[in-house]
Amino acid sequence: MKTIPRLLLLAAATTALSLHGADAAASWKQSCAKCHGPDGKGDTKMGHKLGILDLSDPKVQAKFTDDDVFKAVKLGRTDASGKTTMKAIEGLSDDDIKALVPFVRSLKP
Ligand code: HEC
Repeated sequence: MKTIPRLLLLAAATTALSLHGADAAASWKQSCAKCHGPDGKGDTKMGHKLGILDLSDPKVQAKFTDDDVFKAVKLGRTDASGKTTMKAIEGLSDDDIKALVPFVRSLKP
């Protein structure tokens, strides 16, 4: 009889996890995919125009920290000459952005 509460706990934990994941996936789809593409490769019209990075490339991922991901979304990115490449993304709370960090990390194989 001891296994039942455990199973319930497991079910609850799995639901919480997948909800969390679904949130970040929804934010990505809504706010990021138009430039970065659904898979983060940046193979989009906007991505080509902006010379976007391939976020599914481990070498690219190694170049930025989790903090950089947060800052890129919150504050946007500029190139060396100060031109905005990725503008700050609106409509996401700090928690939404934090949830996106592991999502971004999961784009690399
Ligand atoms: C308007 C198009 C556009 C949108 C929308 C966009 N990005 Fe970007 N993103 C870019 C471009 C262009 C770069 C490369 C900028 C550079 O190298 O300075 C970039 C760079 C990044 C980087 C690398 C940052 C670094 O420090 O090297 C991350 C991580 C990132 N974007 C995540 C996101 C996330 C998460 C979202 C959605 C919340 C998003 N982007 C939405 C265009 C976009």
